Amino acid sequence: MSILRWLRRLSPVAGVILLLAGCAFDGPRSTLNPAGEVARIQLDLLVYTTWMSVGVVVLVVGALAWALIRFRSRPTDKGLPNQFHGSLTIEAIWTAIPVVIVIMIAIPTVRAIFETEAHVEQAEGDVVVNVTGYQWWWKFEYPDYGIVTANELHIPVGSRLILNLDSADVLHSFWAPRLGGKRDLIPNQDNQLWLVADEPGIYPGHCAELCLGPHAYMRFRVIASTPDEFEDWVASFQTLQAPELLSAEAQPERVELFVQDQADPALIEQGSQLFITKGCVGCHAIAGNIGGNPEYPDLTNFGLRTTVGAAVLENNLENLTRWIHDPQSVKPGNYMPNQWADDDPNREDEARAIAAYLLSLGGGTASAGDTADAGAGSLALGGAN
Ligand code: CUA
Repeated sequence: MSILRWLRRLSPVAGVILLLAGCAFDGPRSTLNPAGEVARIQLDLLVYTTWMSVGVVVLVVGALAWALIRFRSRPTDKGLPNQFHGSLTIEAIWTAIPVVIVIMIAIPTVRAIFETEAHVEQAEGDVVVNVTGYQWWWKFEYPDYGIVTANELHIPVGSRLILNLDSADVLHSFWAPRLGGKRDLIPNQDNQLWLVADEPGIYPGHCAELCLGPHAYMRFRVIASTPDEFEDWVASFQTLQAPELLSAEAQPERVELFVQDQADPALIEQGSQLFITKGCVGCHAIAGNIGGNPEYPDLTNFGLRTTVGAAVLENNLENLTRWIHDPQSVKPGNYMPNQWADDDPNREDEARAIAAYLLSLGGGTASAGDTADAGAGSLALGGAN
């Protein structure tokens, strides 16, 4: 046989091996590596039904193989073998077995649905977040804390997080694979999802419903920290500190790039002016400061964020400048316009000034809660991208 024919025969095997090489049981978005109660309930169901399927395959293939060997035609055979068409016993058996299988799958499935899908009443210690999906970012609103933010969901470990899901436009779907989901965000339908995270860490999430355009870039991250760190983060939002420079201890990774400009409050001042004159303020609110429109991402305390553009880029001066300078080159199709003419000689510098201003928002001691996340953050980003 020629080499070419061999290659053609082996190519599907090679394809399968290549596909399997992409699998990881413990990836940052692996449902096989649950980090919370809901994800565990869902995984248990998956494992149970998988073993069930394996049992069915073994029995069916086994029976088939046995029949093929036991009843294969022999030279001594004369005419047709005995026929059993219409055998009541056999018809009853192979009708009953699937019914039993369906019942065995239905019972734990229905139980899991009731455990994870029921609308829950808010109890002491729960954290409620109203989630609104937009093309192509997430609004996270904490009604009990008066916090509105975007794309990064801070939660305390061990507490039940109740998410009230809504959409401002098309269908989206909330999915943080290691914590649970998916649940659709449907306009005017009050879907709800509750989650718990067991351990501090960053859990990447994704919109899991094709919502056109840059759907693939509609990401988010759940940042789970200890209750104390979560309270710190809440406090930093509520106090809305005057724009301060990021402290090196609090944000070691970002500050490395940012530090050159730290010495230059004039750049931040220029950025704060440009934020208004370039029209950013028309869409983006900065609480305690200036206007905006609730239909666009709120940039309050933006310096506390770890990512830019709905968890597409890590948040640092270089990436933020790149994003503001030309959002379409980072996330094609998104609704953020370019604020400069292509040949504007000040474009790069002005984008950098605005970036410096935004990074300066929300700095200070309260961001200590993010310290633990910073290391894990780069890991999660690496895995997510
Ligand atoms: Cu939102 Cu896909």
